[in-house]
Amino acid sequence: MKLWEKGINPEPAIIEFTAGRDRKTDLHLTKWDIIGSMAHVIMLHDVGLIEAGEKNDMLKALHSLFVWDEEGTLVIEKDVEDIHSQIEKEMASILGTTGKKIHTGRSRNDQVLVDIRLYTREEIDTLASLISRLFNKLQSLSNQYKEVLLPGYTHMQPAMVSSFGLWFGAYAECLCDDLLLLSGARAINNTNPLGTAAGYGTTLPLNRKLTSELLEFDELLFNSAYASLSRGKVEMAVASALASLAQTLSRFSMDICLYMSAEFRFIDFPDEYVTGSSIMPQKRNPDVFELIRGRSNILQMLPGEVAMLASNLPSGYNRDLQLLKQLIFDAFTDLKESIEIMLLMLNNIKIRKNITDNPLYNTIFSTEEVNRLVKEGIPFRDAYKAVSEMVRNSSFSKTAIKDYVHEGSIGNLCNEEIAKIFNERLKVFKNKSAAEMADKLMGYAK
Ligand code: ARG
Repeated sequence: MKLWEKGINPEPAIIEFTAGRDRKTDLHLTKWDIIGSMAHVIMLHDVGLIEAGEKNDMLKALHSLFVWDEEGTLVIEKDVEDIHSQIEKEMASILGTTGKKIHTGRSRNDQVLVDIRLYTREEIDTLASLISRLFNKLQSLSNQYKEVLLPGYTHMQPAMVSSFGLWFGAYAECLCDDLLLLSGARAINNTNPLGTAAGYGTTLPLNRKLTSELLEFDELLFNSAYASLSRGKVEMAVASALASLAQTLSRFSMDICLYMSAEFRFIDFPDEYVTGSSIMPQKRNPDVFELIRGRSNILQMLPGEVAMLASNLPSGYNRDLQLLKQLIFDAFTDLKESIEIMLLMLNNIKIRKNITDNPLYNTIFSTEEVNRLVKEGIPFRDAYKAVSEMVRNSSFSKTAIKDYVHEGSIGNLCNEEIAKIFNERLKVFKNKSAAEMADKLMGYAK
């Protein structure tokens, strides 16, 4: 069954190729296709295109499809192209003539846009709450180990005194900026394309403001032609935010792998959380963080993939756009799984104390020695030169955390200030779940 069949049997190989992976991956969109359809039906009745009885029957039928989806019994059948076609087929088989009215005044083009935006909004909100859990974990580790010193590196050479407080706290603040980018992507995503039909509007008198309110979009996406152009643009904004988050996860994972190596031994994990080798009995490997690093590094190519796919397309719908879905679905899955496993690992991280007692790190206190002389009134460059002479064989007196007072230093981490900004940024990620939306929309079935 094809929605567009008109008496000629399409060649099966063409249908298989063009449906691609949609029969499987469109299942990510099912509940949102149903919810978008519920709002559409309520609106069709509001503008007089269907009767009250038809609206009620359609809402009830859509709700039963929602339940089937939750139970896992709604599938896209072999001869059906995508989720939009499957839902229409189910509606016609439950309701007959009335079911066939569901596509009045819309196209699969605006339908898929709405579905993707509702899906993306939920995924962004889920990701934001995972980011928040990771942020809180990093900040609590930062506070817990704020007194434990760590050599800070530049050029991969021991440079200055750092601390676990500074290191964990740095990645927490990194997430704070990732969250800001994610909120920007969320805002671009959260406008309503429903009613733009194939990308050129319709002569039917739709009430687009009503569907925007029902689906809790921030605003209309006004221009019908922009609606199809927006596919690829929204994904670009989302991809950039996801890539930024991926960069944070990747760099943190790199640090972990390095710090866990035998040469560093700054941190460790219990035996149950590391992996072994099939040949070398001694191995304790940080595979989890290597895989997070690998997945995250691939994810940093996501904006490039989206750009390549969308950049030379003419305006209007083009089938190439179908391929965007897979990229975005996989990216959310990768990031959610990576953060979950990272949280599990961080709950079990072991921190080594007294790392900076190793004579290898004596010189990391030399800049503080320069500063000590500066405080005695010696010009900085003279103090620098004097200490340079001493560097090779001297062990400088250890700097104490309390010697650092300015904001953002090891003695004054400002974690509370960072948390305040983070929690302010978190406030926008707050939409209803699909089940809550479906219940709300069922309130229109009398
Ligand atoms: N599976 C399609 C996609 O994701 C749905 C839209 C189909 N529209 C069309 N004009 N063929 O893009």
